[in-house]
Parts: sequence; C-alpha cells; structure tokens
Amino acid sequence: MPSLSVFGAQWGDEGKGKLIDLLARDADLVVRYQGGANAGHTVVVGDEKYVLHLIPSGILHPGKVNVIGNGVAVDPLKLLEEVDGLRQRGIAVSGANLRLAANAHVIFEHHRLIDQLSERWRGEGRIGTTGRGIGPAYADKSARTGLRVGDLLEPGHCRTRLKAALAEKNALIQKVHNERPLDLEGQLDRYVSVAERLRPFVGDTGGEVRAAYRAKKRILFEGAQGAMLDIDGGTYPFVTSSNTGANGISSGALVPPSFIDRVVGIAKAYTTRVGEGPFPTELKDAVGDRIREQGHEYGSTTGRPRRCGWFDVVAARYALELSGADGLIVTNLDVLSGFPEIRAAVEYKLEGRTFSTWPAHLASVERAVPQYTTFPGWSEDITRVRRFEDLPQRARAYVEWLERELSVPIVMLSVGPDREQVIPRGLQPF
Ligand code: IMP
Repeated sequence: MPSLSVFGAQWGDEGKGKLIDLLARDADLVVRYQGGANAGHTVVVGDEKYVLHLIPSGILHPGKVNVIGNGVAVDPLKLLEEVDGLRQRGIAVSGANLRLAANAHVIFEHHRLIDQLSERWRGEGRIGTTGRGIGPAYADKSARTGLRVGDLLEPGHCRTRLKAALAEKNALIQKVHNERPLDLEGQLDRYVSVAERLRPFVGDTGGEVRAAYRAKKRILFEGAQGAMLDIDGGTYPFVTSSNTGANGISSGALVPPSFIDRVVGIAKAYTTRVGEGPFPTELKDAVGDRIREQGHEYGSTTGRPRRCGWFDVVAARYALELSGADGLIVTNLDVLSGFPEIRAAVEYKLEGRTFSTWPAHLASVERAVPQYTTFPGWSEDITRVRRFEDLPQRARAYVEWLERELSVPIVMLSVGPDREQVIPRGLQPF
C-alpha cells in the first residue's frame, strides 16, 4: 500500500512528531497538508532535540522528500528560520528534499498581529490561539484576498497585491484595534527580499505527490493539531482553521481521496488540550497537575502549560471515525506509571440521559458529565520495555480495554520521547 495517513486523534500534541519521524524511515515522501507554524512537532534523536513547526519531520532522514502542501498556511520568515536552524545542525535542506507548494497561502506580519489583536478584542471569549496568524490567513484564503507563495516570487505583482491587502488591514489595525499601522514599504521590502530564498523549494507539489503515488512511492501524510481541533468536526469555535484529520488530505495536498490508503490515529494514554474550549475529562486538581509534571505537558510552540485529564473514549472514538482510522498508536503510556488508579471516560451524562456518542452541539459538550471506568494503576517504570508481553499486567489490561472500547487495533505504543522507545504491536507502515 503506497500511502499512510497519520493524524492526531485528540486536541493535538499527541506525539505525532516522534512517530512521523519513525515512520518516515520507510517512506519516500512525507507530506504536510494543513496548519502552519502553530504546530510544534518534537523529535528526540539521542541527545539532540528538534522542534519542527512547518517542515515535515521526515527532513531528519536523508533522501526523503518533504512536502509542504497547498493546504498549509506558510509563514516564510518562520520557514526560513527553520531551514537555517536545521542547516546549522548539519541537516541538509535543499530543493531536492524540501518542496513548497506554489499555491500555499502566505502568513504575513499583519496576519500575526491581527490574530493577537482579535484575541485581545474577544476578551473572555478568546480562543487561546497560538498567535501565529493562522486564523486570519485562512480567513483571507476563503475571502479570496490572500497571497500565495507563487505570488511572492513575482515582485511587481506581489507589491501590488500586498499593498492592496495592507491598506485594508492597516485600517482595521488602526481604527478597530487602536494600534499603530504596519509600515507599508518596510513590509513590501521584507517579503520581496525573502521570496528569492524560497524559490529553490517552490513547485507544483500537488502534481509531484500525485505522480509519486502513481509511481508507487510510499507516501506518509502528516497531520498537525488534532481531530478535535478540526474546523468542521471539532469543538467549534475553539478549533484551529483547517481540517486536521485524513479529511483534510485531499484538498490540502491536492490528491484524490482514493490516494489515501491507510489511516492511523495517534492519541495519548490520557488527554491534553491547550487554549480555551470544552474538555470534558479535564482534571483541575492535583491529579491533573501530576500528569502535567510527569508528562512535561508544556506547549512546544508557545510554552503554555497544557490542560490535562483522563482519556476520553467518547471523543477518541469520534475522532477515529471521522478519519476512518484502521489503527491507533497510543503514546505517553509511561507517564501513567505511579498513579494509584487510572480512569477513562466511557459515556457522558446530560440532563438525566446517558450517551456514548460525541454531541454535535458545543453547549451539550460543555454541560456533559463524563462517566468513568476506573483501573488499578502500576508503579513500574516502563520506559525500557520494548515488548507488549513485558509490560506490567495492569498496563496491558488498560491498553487492551482501550482497544476493545475504541473498536480499532492499537498498533503501536510509545513509552518515552526517544525514537527507540516504542512497543510494536503489528503496525506495518507500508
Ligand atoms: P490557532 O491554530 O493558533 O488559531 O489556535 C486555535 C486553537 O488550536 C487553540 O486552542 C490552540 O491552542 C490550538 N492549537 C493550534 N495548534 C496546536 C498544536 O499544534 N497543538 C495543540 N493545540 C494547537
């Protein structure tokens, strides 16, 4: 099977960076299809730690082609910062191993600024965005006022379009938000000058990926954020502005849906969320604090402490169903070592009614009371375990229970941040 899609089955930060890095070994192409530098994919290789925001994690393996597809919102300054950072650490980055869609939308300084100003404007109703300009850039894409990477490469055209866009944005910045407008000439010079550095990477990535699929190359589609942050299926409006699961691949990489062969979700053995919005199994107590400390649950993009809670079967089942997942990878199982008991939500209760399917309406999610199943915990350190049968019996029982409840095979477990800290359970990447 030539393609595999890996996506976050919770609210992001499920450990996709490490797993994609691992699976990239067997892939020919690694393709990002949505999101932008709001993502933070952490990969640990020996003593080295890499945090990638825009470039697919496959870049750490020589000979792989890494694609930033048309569905990604690209901040060129961040992208070049990432390229420079990788090169300084001895990783080769060129037009041969990094491809950038000419039709991907560009995030400008004004998008970042408006993202932050809009959050301030919303006050109590804020989304808790990463402040990276994601929402405003996708809004311009839909409003058909955005600029794409290909526009940047034509200086005259770029100046005209950016000038028109900035005139409107500056009015918003000044008149609505009472802030100083951005300097038009300074912005024009800045983006026109970085454009040349992007040129070697830019191409028709949709065509390249389709040709690679037809040539039976092994393609790994790398999702960012998580299914519960999906603009359509997630906890709207507390979501990001793209389709985060396998549902986003076709439009975000410009490949037909029939090119998506296998789909695997990734979920932590518990749940975390950053930013605002409903989170039924959140623990606002010492147990939640302990998960945060044991799991080092602080954002890799913003450094914000993550909200922590128990595993939510209702939400995960829904997330897996949305993307048609045929397998699940469970990460951070080691973080649960030492808890006297472990819980997982199996149903919600609302106004005397019990249900086990995710409600479509946000207000119901906010008022739902999760109903838990409780498991005895284990105390052993499991970070060195590499075979399922070597896990403590209680850890195995928890994993097997999750598998039954979710009706999807758990095809791999992760028990630490390093590439090697995994327990295979039958995942055949390609
Ligand atoms: P935005 O994507 O910056 O607009 O943020 C919208 C929501 O998605 C906020 O709750 C963010 O915290 C969340 N979010 C965005 N990117 C990530 C991510 O990579 N991991 C986890 N949450 C994210």
